[in-house]
Amino acid sequence: MILAVTMNPSVDISYPVDRFKFDDVNRVETVRKTAGGKGLNVARVIAQMEEEVLSTGVLGGTIGDYIVQELNQSNIPNDFLKIKNESRNCIAIIHEGMQTEILESGPTLSKEEGTAFLEKFEGLLTTASLVTISGSLPKGLPTHYYRKMVEISRNKGKPVIVDSSGESLKQVLIHEKKPFAIKPNTAELSQLLGFKAEAGIMDLKQMLNHEIFKGIEWLVVSMGDKGAFVRHGDDYYQVTIPKIEVVNPVGSGDATVAGLAVALNRNQAVESVLKTAMTTGMLNTIEAVTGFIDINKFKQYFDLVKVEKID
Ligand SMILES: Nc1ncnc2c1ncn2[C@@H]1O[C@H](COP(=O)(O)OP(=O)(O)OP(=O)(O)O)[C@@H](O)[C@H]1O
Ligand SMILES: [Mg+2]
Repeated sequence: MILAVTMNPSVDISYPVDRFKFDDVNRVETVRKTAGGKGLNVARVIAQMEEEVLSTGVLGGTIGDYIVQELNQSNIPNDFLKIKNESRNCIAIIHEGMQTEILESGPTLSKEEGTAFLEKFEGLLTTASLVTISGSLPKGLPTHYYRKMVEISRNKGKPVIVDSSGESLKQVLIHEKKPFAIKPNTAELSQLLGFKAEAGIMDLKQMLNHEIFKGIEWLVVSMGDKGAFVRHGDDYYQVTIPKIEVVNPVGSGDATVAGLAVALNRNQAVESVLKTAMTTGMLNTIEAVTGFIDINKFKQYFDLVKVEKID
């Protein structure tokens, strides 16, 4: 079973209006509400790939209840720690071809809740074969919290894929117990190393050779429509994808993490792992719904991904 972690889930609300009026009343006819959060997208795509998954993290209040209800309705097994404060709403107002977002930062966790989740997490690891950790940390938890989770997992011999950014990612990387895989995009990679990744292949190769990445098995740098650049052990790969008709790219990185997790969990060969990760990313971009792939199209796209080893 793959354990997919989301520490700051949300209910994502979309309000479509013809014209957005400032300092006035805006009435909305059709409201769409979905359970959101990067780790939830990962869990959904894993389930669509017919791999066993368990969605975990922390949530609270009636918004938390709504998230659980949504996961249950879509048959995603879940086991979250209930916290005292209410989970967050994230609002997107869709107007005049634009999207104005109002994002709550979410609940603050107490120290006790932070400790309680680590205990719960350790328990859930018993039946897990691989772990994914996605997105930002909620307020109240230290920036080295993911590092602790990686350490606990490693001590139990469970590989972890981390898809986070900023300080919480940095904290994971500067620790001796490294994650099994990370999947930054180019912006996150630049931020991490403190310089721009306008990069040609040689630059990317050099960047992934950085001290901070030592001991990480898989470094998958996703590059949107340009595919990915990858370091696996001491080998480097450029992965290219076909030009496709994009409908909604939001959550493609999450779908890529899901594909990576499933392929690694199935012990696939290097080329197949990379092709799978790119395929699930692409399949997410051609759907309107975030964190949804049509698995029937898998083979068609998989066959179009090219993996080239770089010397
Ligand atoms: N415009 C696109 N055309 C084709 N494939 C895409 C496109 N955008 C994303 N993908 C696919 O999805 C993968 C991940 O996308 P991307 O690099 O944008 O991740 P990300 O920035 O982490 O996204 P997220 O918003 O989910 O965090 C890409 O490597 C590619 O396979
Ligand atoms: Mg991402």
